[in-house]
Amino acid sequence: MTIRYELCPECQCKQPVADSNNLGFGAARTNHIFVADYKNGEWQDARIVPYADFSIAPGALCFHYGQTLFEGGKAFRHGNGDVYAFRFDKNAERLNDSAVILQMPPIPVELQVEGFLRLMDLDRTFCPHEDECSIYIRPFMFATEDALSIRPSVNYRYCIMLSPSGPYYPGGFSKPIKLLISTSFHRAVSGGTGNAKAGGNYAASMRAGDYARSQGAAQVLYLDASNTYIEEAGIMNHFHVLKDGTFIIPEFTNSILKSITSRSVLELAAAGKIKARQERILFKDFLEGLRSGEIIEAGGFGTAAVISPAGTYILEDGTEITVGDGAIGKHTRALYEMYTGMQTGKHPAPEGWLMKIPHYAK
Ligand SMILES: Cc1ncc(COP(=O)(O)O)c(C=O)c1O
Repeated sequence: MTIRYELCPECQCKQPVADSNNLGFGAARTNHIFVADYKNGEWQDARIVPYADFSIAPGALCFHYGQTLFEGGKAFRHGNGDVYAFRFDKNAERLNDSAVILQMPPIPVELQVEGFLRLMDLDRTFCPHEDECSIYIRPFMFATEDALSIRPSVNYRYCIMLSPSGPYYPGGFSKPIKLLISTSFHRAVSGGTGNAKAGGNYAASMRAGDYARSQGAAQVLYLDASNTYIEEAGIMNHFHVLKDGTFIIPEFTNSILKSITSRSVLELAAAGKIKARQERILFKDFLEGLRSGEIIEAGGFGTAAVISPAGTYILEDGTEITVGDGAIGKHTRALYEMYTGMQTGKHPAPEGWLMKIPHYAK
């Protein structure tokens, strides 16, 4: 499909900020957005247009029954000045997996990738140069049919917007986070939508997230609905590290999002670069491991949060458990350096992980 351009008038174009360190996460925008619409059973009118408000009918199904999904990827400025996206094809594939779960129409991966590459090319000056800063790529899709019956919409809109960003957690990698282990809030249940990046999953987790923050924790470490197994750390997959340096990631179930970061870590392990595996992790074994010192490091994996070390876990009764000595462990640090080095071109990345943004004729 041809992608048409409708460029931002020069007088309305924003300029990138000089120093991205104070950008925060997700607040800044670039000048353009990629949009495609699904009508009459097909994706059509793919276009790059100025970033501006949409006109959507108040009765559009996304507003009422939450038929919305999204993705989150990243692009980085390398030392030679070129901009590279990190595994964006995996985001495009997972968006389609989520679409199937939410009864929404998949959109060809090639169209998602070309739309992103052209958009990123156009707004490439916004890609930060500073450490821990990147372009956060936000693809999303929502139901646009003006109808109030509870059924899948027949019309949809798909978009990609870009946000020049700093680290997700203020303090970045240098500050270990606290995680609240909750037995009263659950993110997802088996047979639900936990393995989709559905907007509704995040709406459902706001209350628990606020409670965690009120206890001084950055995220909730969710258990499965029977409070038996470890599931996810809020917007991250969870990991812990055993005394022998092995990273253990909870096995993917249909209530856990298949993190691209976790999958990348497991691929690095398969290539012999680190030790990592997946297991179904009993909550009681995890607590015992923290207390006995068998577990020496822990934290979360995710595109936005990258590799976030957890220094402390807090239970709902206020009991706090420190991981190791509470500081960033050497295995977590080494993995962080290897992984971010691959993203930023300082270390060689496996074949196909980096996508150089081409210069297109407009
Ligand atoms: C619920 C949840 N789990 C895990 C992750 C981490 O996934 P990824 O590494 O693909 O960003 C995210 C963020 O995308 C998330 O929202």
